[in-house]
Amino acid sequence: MYTNCTEPTGILGLASWTGGAVVAAPKRLLFVDDDPSILDMLERMIAPHAAGWQTFFCLGAEEAMTMVEQVDFDAIVSDARMPGRDGFWLLKTLQDSERTRNIPVILLTGDCEPSLKRQALEMGATDLLNKPICREDLLGRLRSALRLKASQDELAAHIISLENNVRERTQALETSHREIVWRLAKACEYRDDETGQHVMRVAFYSRAIAVGLGMSPDFVEEIFLTSPLHDIGKIAMPDRVFLKPGSLTPEEMRVMRSHCEVGARLLLERPQALALFHGDGFDREEFFGDGDENPFIKMASRIALGHHEKWDGTGYPGGLAGRAIPMESRIVALADVFDALVTERPYKPAFSLEKSLGILATEAGHHFDPEVCSAFNAKIDEIESIRRRFLETPYHVCIENAR
Ligand SMILES: [Fe+2]
Ligand SMILES: [Fe+2]
Repeated sequence: MYTNCTEPTGILGLASWTGGAVVAAPKRLLFVDDDPSILDMLERMIAPHAAGWQTFFCLGAEEAMTMVEQVDFDAIVSDARMPGRDGFWLLKTLQDSERTRNIPVILLTGDCEPSLKRQALEMGATDLLNKPICREDLLGRLRSALRLKASQDELAAHIISLENNVRERTQALETSHREIVWRLAKACEYRDDETGQHVMRVAFYSRAIAVGLGMSPDFVEEIFLTSPLHDIGKIAMPDRVFLKPGSLTPEEMRVMRSHCEVGARLLLERPQALALFHGDGFDREEFFGDGDENPFIKMASRIALGHHEKWDGTGYPGGLAGRAIPMESRIVALADVFDALVTERPYKPAFSLEKSLGILATEAGHHFDPEVCSAFNAKIDEIESIRRRFLETPYHVCIENAR
């Protein structure tokens, strides 16, 4: 007699290891009928053939859903007509949930109920069985339903595995891209800073400022990854100029200043870009405009080109002013100069934080975008902790902790 959800005893639980052989997890079957004598009959019918099956029985659709919430069933056999919530309600409720949508459902209907059968199939029933129930039909339909469920489960597991593989590969690719970019930037920096840490600090400062300005997460990520390349054009500067002690002649200064355009061209070299560099300059509107290049490379090239521009228009190479200078260039300009102020250079000692901040303050609205200066000041605690971290931490640890 079935008073509620019940489970026959002595049936295997989950997959287990016994005597050196893996025992497959049993297939879980749920039978639902408001008539206990039908459930008795169903149990007797399948008992001799139920090896590897775990059977559950209950007297109504609502009780069935309670069980479904707790157990992952491989198939459900339910009477279509039951008092209160019936087999159709059960079918619809199962279909409405992502987790239970794929459980095969076999509905038991009367022989002369064609409209009911059509409705059941339209609502997603896997199969139908006529009452009175024939044992061979029942076993045949159950086996088909279990095969269907096994295929669906296998497919779902395969999709999850593929998705995980893609995710892992994507992450590995992103990590290697980031690593290559930073190592390239570090290689350039070796010419005048053997530690290569200046470009790293600029990346961290730029990210902090971008966050302070409320830039989008994509922008923040891109400026973090591309700002280390701001001086990549220095790689092409001749030693006689780059390593010259003392002051530069106007011609040597012109050569040094060309590192901006050289860097931008290095990053964005393509037929169109080369055309833009012809003559006594290039069309900056077009250069800074939207093309179909990788946004990462575009940002890197804008930073390389624009990091010596000044807010008041007195910078180089374009003499751009105000918002005509891309935001990323304005941010890196400040980060770059701040780092130069607080660190020792061949031509100057390291200035104190106070002195450096004083210099930056006088340049707000002249060299630097006042808005960028405000964001920088609002983030000064984080900026200072970045500076200290780099003083105390080896380069590779900073890289590993970058994200
Ligand atoms: Fe530079
Ligand atoms: Fe720099």
